[in-house]
Amino acid sequence: PTIHVTRRDGRQEAVEATSGQSLKDALKGAGIDEILGLCGGFASCGTCHVHVAEDWLARLEPVRENEAELLGYSDWREANSRLACQIPFTEALDGIVVTVAPED
Ligand code: FES
Repeated sequence: PTIHVTRRDGRQEAVEATSGQSLKDALKGAGIDEILGLCGGFASCGTCHVHVAEDWLARLEPVRENEAELLGYSDWREANSRLACQIPFTEALDGIVVTVAPED
């Protein structure tokens, strides 16, 4: 399964992911270094912020309260903002398209 990611410098890459990983771990593990994931995936640092392509957004679990709160601190929050650590990667998300949000 693949994640299509646009990096902060505009480069587009396709990275491999495994079901059961978080989107954050898949991106980080593939060398997308600007996904810092400083809190280790506990929705408390905001450094795994991505923008999810519209047609994929509805396929994700809804945003939970702590995720929404943290996203609220970002200057780059959009309607399609998510924390990648809060998205469990599954086969159903094969082909998902995301963009790494600019740095806060
Ligand atoms: Fe810290 Fe996602 S890794 S909020």
